[in-house]
Amino acid sequence: MSTRAPHILVVGSLNMDLVVQMPAIPRPGETLLGGRFATFPGGKGANQAVAAARLGARVTMVGRVGGDAFGEQMLKIMSCEGIDTRFIGVDAGTATGVALITVDAQGQNSIAVASGANLTLTAEEVRSAWEQITRVDWLAMPLETPLDSVETAAQIAKERGVKVILNPAPAQDLDVHLLRNIDVLIPNESETERLTGQTIHSDEQARSAGVALLSLGVGSVVLTLGERGALIVEGDQSDPAYYSIPAFPVRVVDTTAAGDAFVGALATGLGERLSLSAAVRFASAAAAISVTRAGAQPSLPYRSEVDRFIRQGKL
Ligand code: RIB
Repeated sequence: MSTRAPHILVVGSLNMDLVVQMPAIPRPGETLLGGRFATFPGGKGANQAVAAARLGARVTMVGRVGGDAFGEQMLKIMSCEGIDTRFIGVDAGTATGVALITVDAQGQNSIAVASGANLTLTAEEVRSAWEQITRVDWLAMPLETPLDSVETAAQIAKERGVKVILNPAPAQDLDVHLLRNIDVLIPNESETERLTGQTIHSDEQARSAGVALLSLGVGSVVLTLGERGALIVEGDQSDPAYYSIPAFPVRVVDTTAAGDAFVGALATGLGERLSLSAAVRFASAAAAISVTRAGAQPSLPYRSEVDRFIRQGKL
């Protein structure tokens, strides 16, 4: 294991999450009276950055907030987490990203995002940030900023020999040129279905979809399957290797940001030179702890909590 903290660069979104707890998620046209309302810092990029920072990584984030109170709060929160915020720009004329989230009694959610300033992040800003950032170990990105910002970051990472994690969330079609620059792709089931056109109802289908993703040019695939754990698919697509990593059983309160906890932890583990399967186990533990707590960033665990959870096998 390396002795210095890995340096993780996150290029991605920052949102303020407006959350209502509900007995059930309202259907179209339906009004339901819910429970408590709360505001939590979120956004897939910011969540991944905070997850990695709390687990001991040195983190730099590239992104955009608006010139409003939410933007100020997000910047303050990120810097209190010890994250280098110099490359989070402020777009005075745009609102900070906002996510309207309902969480049901089973902890499942529905999320509507108004991306706001996240959509003003340009490829040029990403390029200029990269010029000022040195010694990155891993780049991690979700898909809540414009695709050309993601493609540019991945391209520069490749040119510099920096490894890239892509979390293709929310699901969208991706160019093979981007996928060929990805070392570890972390999709969930619906994102996998979108990228491959294959549905996943069984372990065999998950394996086959994983191989289809390998054939698009990514280095390795870590398919997250919720309570069924994670499936690693790697190696040559004609003779792939599969490893199933079981999920840690926990009582689910709120699944928001579980995927982000996983990605931030995986980047940290890989940055510490864990093997992919050891890093996936570490990431699964971080994600399991996160679902036992409400909110996006408040749910993200610290290193001591994850280490203890892995040691004891329970919370
Ligand atoms: O992954 C969870 C995140 O998705 C939330 O924090 C919300 O902001 C949306 O971006």
